[in-house]
Amino acid sequence: NTVRTPLLAGNWKMNLDHLQSIAFVQKLAWTLSDANHDFGAVEVAVFPPFTDLRSVQTLVAADKLPLAYGGQDVSEHDSGAYTGEISGAFLKALDCRYVIVGHSERRTLHGETDEQLAGKVAAAVRHGVVPILCVGETAEDLEQHGPSAVPVAQLRAALASVPKGTELVVAYEPVWAIGSGQAATPDQAEQVAAALRGVLAELLGDETAAATRILYGGSVKSGNIAGFMRQPNVDGALVGGASLDIQEFSAIVRYQK
Ligand code: G3P
Repeated sequence: NTVRTPLLAGNWKMNLDHLQSIAFVQKLAWTLSDANHDFGAVEVAVFPPFTDLRSVQTLVAADKLPLAYGGQDVSEHDSGAYTGEISGAFLKALDCRYVIVGHSERRTLHGETDEQLAGKVAAAVRHGVVPILCVGETAEDLEQHGPSAVPVAQLRAALASVPKGTELVVAYEPVWAIGSGQAATPDQAEQVAAALRGVLAELLGDETAAATRILYGGSVKSGNIAGFMRQPNVDGALVGGASLDIQEFSAIVRYQK
């Protein structure tokens, strides 16, 4: 495709404190300033813990780094008595371009429901932060319902009240591939990404569907990134474990098709 800028995103999960985040971003800045590589063609983003965001913002702004960043979650509420929650307005105030919504760890470990996630997507959009909506099936879902049914249902539910033309990113992360070392094959990722794009077209119109980036996530490494990036409907990756290793993440963002 020619319309969608590939997005290579590192989800740090609960790793790297604010001092470690500074050291990591400084090293990543070296990679991104490599004169021998054209980064104009890709967008790179990191998703640090909330307590790191101010440090990352300061570094990115001071050195004008070509690096986007965002939170790993957002509240569906705007402000008030919600102990422990972070609003979309707070993320926007730190210049977060993106926020991850509905990661499978939030769905599973924190019981986030489709309804709640629709609220989180709406909250991000309301505050001008682009949601990266994660969808994906468990191994059991895969066996019972086939590859696309659960991700498609999760996408439909989360987009319930999103208007046409909204900028969002979808990350297809099969739960069985997350942190398991067993990535989906590029063909499997493409098949689900194509189904998700079909649903985007139905719900948000052809134009928005064509402009929306669909990422693959789940055991992405420097050794398998190229295969995913060659797929017509896969527009990037959401990387967990390998995004914590500067060598690995640098190699991923410099992938060659
Ligand atoms: O959000 C990215 C993630 O869930 C994938 O994790 O460690 O399998 O790359 P990992």
